[in-house]
Amino acid sequence: MEKKAIDWSNLGFSYMETEKRFVSNYKDGKWDAGLLTDNANVVINECAGVLQYAQTCFEGLKAYTTEDGHIVMFRPDLNAKRMADSAKRLMMPAFPEERFLEAVHKVVEANKAFVPPYGSGATLYIRPYMFGSNPVIGVKPADEYQFRVFTTPVGPYFKGGAKPITIRVCDYDRAAPHGTGHVKAGLNYAMSLYAIMEAHSQGYDENMYLDAATRTKVEETGGANFIFITKDQKLVTPKSSTILPSITRRSLMYVAEHYLGMEVEEREVYFDEVKEFAECGLCGTAAVISPVGKVVDHGKEICFPSGMDEMGPVTKKLYDTLTGIQMGHIEAPEGWIHRV
Ligand code: PLP
Ligand code: COI
Repeated sequence: MEKKAIDWSNLGFSYMETEKRFVSNYKDGKWDAGLLTDNANVVINECAGVLQYAQTCFEGLKAYTTEDGHIVMFRPDLNAKRMADSAKRLMMPAFPEERFLEAVHKVVEANKAFVPPYGSGATLYIRPYMFGSNPVIGVKPADEYQFRVFTTPVGPYFKGGAKPITIRVCDYDRAAPHGTGHVKAGLNYAMSLYAIMEAHSQGYDENMYLDAATRTKVEETGGANFIFITKDQKLVTPKSSTILPSITRRSLMYVAEHYLGMEVEEREVYFDEVKEFAECGLCGTAAVISPVGKVVDHGKEICFPSGMDEMGPVTKKLYDTLTGIQMGHIEAPEGWIHRV
């Protein structure tokens, strides 16, 4: 199979239309068989539930080319499960988890020519999503839904790749106690746009959100969870019921403990403690692990000892082990790697 003529090493995190996408519709209480289509456009009624009341959720995962030339996906079963959880919270019918797995396999298979080659630094991002598709004008769940999966080749989420970024403590909240912060609802991202544009205009790469109830604890950013490394090399990561349960983070906690012999603590992290950590990173499918060099709290700077030039040494070990597992040169725990 011929790869597309794409400058893989210079891709950013942006959309490029690929050849095929999967579509299935839910009507009269059931999902249809679904199919692969060439048509990248969605046509829905002007009053569709998603357009009026944002009834939509999504997922994000990646396909990788391994060193020996296979195409694999990383833990897609956890995305299937999380999407079912998101759907439930938003009063949408879950797309069956087995069928989710089949659909992502099919779409990656059909777009093999767009899976970036091993060593290029790029990957194929997979975006499953669903939305209320029939007219809804009173505030209630739709009766009809569409589930889709498309793919797009991507490079690093932050320009500069592994260069440490600078973030600010954000005055806006991301998620309310007992709200929707723990699911991947489109609405969580719509409401973060004002805050991210404001951060960018002030020269910051991202926002650090604090807990909305007390504004004393670290939550996450708009699109990734936090990991911190203590001076004695423990991995510390915030425990909260209002952050997205990151699959990358769950994997890193396992890797830290079982591959690197580190102690791991998932616990509440007070903002006041942040200045004591040796290293800080953002983790997620898109972010992989993006090192944070500096956190600015209303003009007060916290500079991590790892500096602004490169990833801290422990973060680097975590990064190398995780990406080694994803790219197939480090043996993966049972069930983590799904070959396409
Ligand atoms: N937190 C938020 C708000 C996200 O959007 C994402 C991305 O999916 C993550 C964390 C990281 O989750 P994962 O590692 O499953 O991609
Ligand atoms: C992902 O990491 O897959 C996400 O969905 C985060 C998004 C901000 C791109």
